[in-house]
Amino acid sequence: MQNQINKLSLEDKIKLINKHKIPRHVAIIMDGNGRWAKEKGYPRIFGHQEGAKRVEDILKIAKRVGISYISFFSFSTENWNRPKEEVEFLFTLMANYLEDKKNMLLKNKIRFKAIGRIYELPSFLQKKIKEVEEETKDFKDLTAVFCINYGGRQEILDAVNKIAYDIRNNILEDKYICENVLKKYLYLPELPDVDLLIRTSGEKRISNFLLWFIPYAELYFTKKYWPDFKEEDFIDAILDFQNRQRRFGGI
Ligand code: FPP
Repeated sequence: MQNQINKLSLEDKIKLINKHKIPRHVAIIMDGNGRWAKEKGYPRIFGHQEGAKRVEDILKIAKRVGISYISFFSFSTENWNRPKEEVEFLFTLMANYLEDKKNMLLKNKIRFKAIGRIYELPSFLQKKIKEVEEETKDFKDLTAVFCINYGGRQEILDAVNKIAYDIRNNILEDKYICENVLKKYLYLPELPDVDLLIRTSGEKRISNFLLWFIPYAELYFTKKYWPDFKEEDFIDAILDFQNRQRRFGGI
C-alpha cells in the first residue's frame, strides 16, 4: 500500500487526504541542513539557505490542505552554542526571509507569529518580526509560528515566573494554578496542542520543542534532510497521521 502511495503524484496524494481528519496543529523540527550541505561539499550555511526555501513550499501546502497552525523550530535556546558566524547568518536569513516573503504571506492570507525569547534577538530581527506580525494579524485560517530562540522548558519557566510575579503583585488571585491558567501565560496561549510533530534527518528526539503542547502528538520521523523535504513528503506525513489510532489515554 505504502509503495503504491509513494508512486502517486502530489495531486493524487492530496486527493487521498480525509478532509475530516486534518491535523489542527503541525509542528516541524527542520533538521539536517548542515549534513545536507556537507554531503554536497557546501558550507553549512548553504543548507540553511536551501532549508529556508522549503518553508514557503510547506506553508502553501499547509494552507491548501486546511491546517490551522504550523510551527517551525527555527532557532533553539541551545543553538547559541553554534559558531558566532552561523548564528549571525541564521538571524540575517530569518530577517531577510520575512522581508522577502511578506507579500507571499499577505497574498496567501497567512498570519505570522514568532514565539520564544524574542527580546534577546538582534533588534533588526525583532523589528522585522513585529512588522510582519502586525501586517498579517487579521488572517484567520492559517497561523505560521516561527519558534526563534525558543525552548520548551524555558517557555514553561517563563510562564511560571510571570505567574509568580502576578501573584506577588496581586494581579493574579488564583490560589491554585490549573492547566488553563498556566496556558494563559505561555508565549501564544491560543496555540492548540500539537497533533502531528515531524522531524527530518533521521534523528528521533524532541529536543526541547513545544513541550507543553506535545503530550498526545503523533510523532513522524523521516530520514530526509530538511532541504530535501518537499510538499509530497509533507502529504505523506499527513496521510500517515490519518492512519493512526489516537486514544488520548482512553481505550
Ligand atoms: C537544523 O539543522 C536547523 C536549524 C537549527 C535552523 C533552521 C533554520 C532554517 C531552516 C532556515 C531559516 C528558517 C526560517 C523559518 C526562514 P542543523 O543545522 O542542525 O543540521 P545538522 O544537524 O545536519 O547539522
